[in-house]
Amino acid sequence: MTDLDDRKPSGFDVGDEHTPIVLVRDGDTVHALRDVCSHAEVAFSDGGEVGRDGVECWLHGSCFDLRTGRPSSPPATEPVDVFAVELRAGDVYVDVTTAVN
Ligand code: FES
Repeated sequence: MTDLDDRKPSGFDVGDEHTPIVLVRDGDTVHALRDVCSHAEVAFSDGGEVGRDGVECWLHGSCFDLRTGRPSSPPATEPVDVFAVELRAGDVYVDVTTAVN
């Protein structure tokens, strides 16, 4: 977990299906969202930033809530998947089999 920069989106492919996820560390919490913007399918981790309203897509600027995946600003209107995260002994485990939102 300490390998993750605080409030900087980091992209990974997870599991046998190589599910693209973006991890965002916020202090002692780590959030996992599908690393695909619901507007035009670019990866947040390719240049997105994390602001007060969540992760901001670098292409058109929609912000997505880290807990719900819902966009709080246009042009995106659809949420992105959010996955359960478990922290064990400093390691991050993400269950990509089921979205929690
Ligand atoms: S591609 Fe993300 S807001 Fe347009």
